[in-house]
Amino acid sequence: MDRIIVAGGNRLQGEVEASGSKNSCLALLAASILAEGPSIIENVPDLRDVDAMLELLRALGLDATRDADDPSTVNIEPRGALQPEAPYDVVRKMRASFMVLGPLLARVGHARVSEPGGCAIGVRPVDQHLKGLAALGAKIGLEHGYVEAAATRLDGARFRFDMVTVNGTQNIMMAATLARGETVIENAAREPEVVELAEFLCRMGADVRGAGSDRIVVNGVSTLRGVRHRVSGDRIEAGTLLLAGVATQGDVTVRGVDPADMESTLDKIREVGAEVEVGAGFVRAGIAQRAKGIQVVTAPIPGFPTDMQAQFMAALTVAEGSSLVTETVFENRFMHVPELQRLGADITLSGRSAHVRGVPQLSGAPVMATDLRASAGLLVAGLAATGETVVNRVYHIDRGYERIEEKLSRLGGNIRRERE
Ligand code: EPZ
Repeated sequence: MDRIIVAGGNRLQGEVEASGSKNSCLALLAASILAEGPSIIENVPDLRDVDAMLELLRALGLDATRDADDPSTVNIEPRGALQPEAPYDVVRKMRASFMVLGPLLARVGHARVSEPGGCAIGVRPVDQHLKGLAALGAKIGLEHGYVEAAATRLDGARFRFDMVTVNGTQNIMMAATLARGETVIENAAREPEVVELAEFLCRMGADVRGAGSDRIVVNGVSTLRGVRHRVSGDRIEAGTLLLAGVATQGDVTVRGVDPADMESTLDKIREVGAEVEVGAGFVRAGIAQRAKGIQVVTAPIPGFPTDMQAQFMAALTVAEGSSLVTETVFENRFMHVPELQRLGADITLSGRSAHVRGVPQLSGAPVMATDLRASAGLLVAGLAATGETVVNRVYHIDRGYERIEEKLSRLGGNIRRERE
């Protein structure tokens, strides 16, 4: 397994381009199942999770390939009848695969998708996805770890989620596009990935309104066409790069993202004392002194994103004063804490909160990546530490960050990958 070696202490400065959004493109790839014709999706990042989704689409019977001349462009073409079964060994690798259930059910009338199972950050059940599809008239069965779903044709319905779920909202929204009649989704997720998916579906010929609010209305149509779409920039990658700048008292600009997708993150970066500048397609954060300790509570948009929690905590470990970081979305998303403590961070966990007392300096050490965003947090901390930090098991990072060490090097970080 590869590892990344960081020689910390450099102030990160300069400009870098964000890759396409991992979480957005995974949903768009699933949505391409709904189309009768080919789709072309551009600005698709080179990530293990994206490769897993392409592998799944091919297993379902679609021709899904990266363009030979431009690997960031993906061509998806229906190839005859779909084989609506998503096998366990694919879904367990990448739980977002579960988002193919709604499109398959709507397009084919039945589907067999492995339950994703839990992951490092939590149990992550899919009960809300299933409740939503049942509300649309699907017959749902569970056996041998698989969800079996069937419906000659889905019927529009009013459905309220018990809690905000991003992929749940996306799954039901996609299924509803081909249902008979009107579907009203209440307590819907408001993340930018939901908004971008709704835009994609409408360009395919769907009738989806209200995405970005907690109430989405879908009027079913009979068929959807393939479209060409450019994936928006990755707001979480951009936030991670800005925080690498904040943690090293630097000044970082990230291009290729929409600042409107990052408001709650940018507000918190301002709150620690950084100067934040935004413009058409770019965000910038600069700070010439230690950040101030603050309170951070994760929540669905419009709250502070849970996917930014580990990276933000890493920056707060070297802030002036104390911080309180509370994780309300996932039940086990503090696995970066023991690793940050190995770097000298002063953190006390209590239930869903972490009390972080800022220290003047972290000191580099070997650390273990445990999940995608925790790993990114360790890179941020390693850049701020004196001495060398070795982040092991970087396959976690490669799931969601495209060539992160190249981007951080371009910003002046002393960082390299060692291939094992
Ligand atoms: C999406 O996951 C993202 N993944 C996650 O990003 C992100 O952390 C999460 O949304 C929250 O923003 C993708 O989009 C591929 P949820 P999702 O359903 O949709 C509970 C990353 O690092 N829940 O919004 O699976 C669930 O357990 C990844 O890029 C149920 O109880 O997350 C959690 O506590 C990590 N039943 C909460 O809701 C359900 O049926 C929110 O999860 C569904 C969810």
